[in-house]
Amino acid sequence: MTVVGTFGLSVRDEALEADIQAGLTAVEEGLLEATKSEVAFITEAARHLVLAGGKRFRPLLVMLAAQFGDPYAPGVVPSAVVVELTHLATLYHDDVMDEASVRRGVDSANTRWSNSVAVLTGDFLFARATQMLGELGPEAVRLQSLSFERLVTGQIQETAGPSDGRDPVEHYLDVLSGKTGSLVAVSCRFGAMMSGADESVMDVLTQYGERLGVAFQLADDVLDIASESRDSGKTPGTDLREGIPTLPVLRLRERAARLGEPEDIALCELLDSDLSDDDRLAEALAALRVHPALEQARRDTVRYVEDARAALAPLPECGAKSALLALCDAVVHRAG
Ligand code: IPE
Ligand code: IPE
Ligand code: MG
Ligand code: MG
Repeated sequence: MTVVGTFGLSVRDEALEADIQAGLTAVEEGLLEATKSEVAFITEAARHLVLAGGKRFRPLLVMLAAQFGDPYAPGVVPSAVVVELTHLATLYHDDVMDEASVRRGVDSANTRWSNSVAVLTGDFLFARATQMLGELGPEAVRLQSLSFERLVTGQIQETAGPSDGRDPVEHYLDVLSGKTGSLVAVSCRFGAMMSGADESVMDVLTQYGERLGVAFQLADDVLDIASESRDSGKTPGTDLREGIPTLPVLRLRERAARLGEPEDIALCELLDSDLSDDDRLAEALAALRVHPALEQARRDTVRYVEDARAALAPLPECGAKSALLALCDAVVHRAG
């Protein structure tokens, strides 16, 4: 059993491992190429987060999905570069919106330079992704633009919050499908499509990606509370400080309303207060880390992962299917 890539996926099948490894290496070269500009400063800013690392979760999914057709087909690697570039661009923008100072274990672009540089570098990355998509054909452009519309819609809905009378948990899950499920789903679809896999396989993998993407974001939201910065490469408590009510907080609020326990109500009040104060943020994090609401959010994550796993049922047994199932375990493991 060998671990391939930086996501921590273990693969048993040597031929599969070699394919994935070769694909991911080609993606790294593609990312360096796609972030090269005639203007040296743009190259530096665009490569800042490429070189800082990252899990390359979406390219990995492209590679695995491509195993259901011809994994060496010419569109596979470029489409993996496209999804990582798109993801990368959203990270530059997201850190501006979330006022985040650390990303992938280094200063975010907004901290290293400025909000303007971060926004424009994100735009540059989108432009480069679009150029590559154009070469992959109109269907690739159509799929990517639909997924990107969903991503942006999710981000806007996160900012806007639920409309009156809407269940906050349902709203939040919709936000996650949009902002994360969409791009993870299209990563799977691209891998299958570029490799020439059957339409039915393409649909199965897209459904898997959508569910896995939501689970992946749920795990990330748990980690915003539960992890240390050295593990996540980000600053813990960013969602809390920004007042973004992720599932652990929504579960806490539900519980406070249902049971009326004074400690829960006090924690909700603390979360509603100004958490730009480091001591208050630390206090809120410490209380949430041991709160049953965090466990409940972990169980919600497991449910989505199980749904992702179930989506794979129609696929034939093979090394790639085993790897996609192992990826489900890895996402659960991340949530702790
Ligand atoms: C971060 O994505 C944003 C989420 C959708 C959770 P990743 O966790 O894939 O970030 P990198 O690419 O590894 O930095
Ligand atoms: C990530 O959302 C942005 C997108 C998925 C587009 P978050 O704000 O939740 O992710 P992190 O925690 O900053 O990586
Ligand atoms: Mg963020
Ligand atoms: Mg965000």
